[in-house]
Amino acid sequence: MSRIFINYRRADSEGHVGRIYDHLVQHFHADDIFADIESIKPGQDFLAVIEHAVAGCDVFLAIIGSQWHSMHDEQGRRRLDLWDDPVRLEIAAALKQDKIIIPVLVGKATMPHPETLPDDIRAFVRRQAVELTHQRFAFDVQKLIGAIRDAMPAQPSVKPRTDADTFIRKEAALKALRTRLIDATDSPLYANRVKNRYFPVLGSGNPDANLVFIGESPGKTEAETGVPFCGPSGAVLDEMLATIQLRRDDVFITNLLLDKPPEKREPTPAELMYYAPFVDQLIDIIQPGVLVALGRFAMAYLLRKLDLPEQRGKISDLHGKLIKAKMPYGDIHVVPLYHPAVVLYSATQKDVLMKDFQKLRLFI
Ligand code: URA
Repeated sequence: MSRIFINYRRADSEGHVGRIYDHLVQHFHADDIFADIESIKPGQDFLAVIEHAVAGCDVFLAIIGSQWHSMHDEQGRRRLDLWDDPVRLEIAAALKQDKIIIPVLVGKATMPHPETLPDDIRAFVRRQAVELTHQRFAFDVQKLIGAIRDAMPAQPSVKPRTDADTFIRKEAALKALRTRLIDATDSPLYANRVKNRYFPVLGSGNPDANLVFIGESPGKTEAETGVPFCGPSGAVLDEMLATIQLRRDDVFITNLLLDKPPEKREPTPAELMYYAPFVDQLIDIIQPGVLVALGRFAMAYLLRKLDLPEQRGKISDLHGKLIKAKMPYGDIHVVPLYHPAVVLYSATQKDVLMKDFQKLRLFI
């Protein structure tokens, strides 16, 4: 997948882009640097082609030369004002898709004033720019490379296949954890489990998954079967996974509470505290590169556990963000998503959830 997208205006900055590219290929794979969209075939929707190309990148570099802002076409119209200007369309797509955008100033250019830009790219000027000067080009470009590195996912998109021994060891460790959970007679939810002949729900899926999904608490269907997310919310989760060509067996699915609470209600602090060591251990066993929080409770738990600066943020602001974090076993991402149950109550949220799910493609 192309990871670094270079957006530029040929007549404005082609020479600079060549120099930047020469430096980037020393640090990133050439296949990961994407400077020109492949030719658009007759009949293709070029907007869709641009959106698709931008969707594939992690970092979007917008190269701004001294004429970026003012360049006109043969009829005297400013290029940026044309609705089909590719530079504008690409930046608009990157903003719409919430990409990490780094404006790169070359040839003594300065950031344009927001009022002078079309509406769909105005927000672009709020992005922190990196300036590449002629005199200190090599030094400045290192700064750019550092900024790109910070923005790229810390883990490789695809977790390398582990050897059979590791897989078997993880499977056995999860089995032992399940036994501990079955024996958790001091849990605040144990009495309810026994009274209703419910099963505890540790979770299910691939013991070596790169993606671990954490929901809130098992519902009635889950407690009756011991399988997480197998009721209506589970149907939504399956549908979302299918949009990124994943099946349950490719990931691991669990919850913050591993027993069903007596009524349909939010988890209590005591319940959350009781099950946290189980969830922590589960993560330590699987060692995923990505922790996907389904809903605000799982998000709050993970952001606090990892002591991340976003921990006071709301899910309405943080959903779909790829938040970097460190675990003792390596760098990871936390991705907060709305809980699949929101789709059951609000159909409009389905599009939001589906769009956020697409971000997970980077990790599969
Ligand atoms: N909601 C959850 O959070 N978890 C489940 O397992 C089912 C519904």
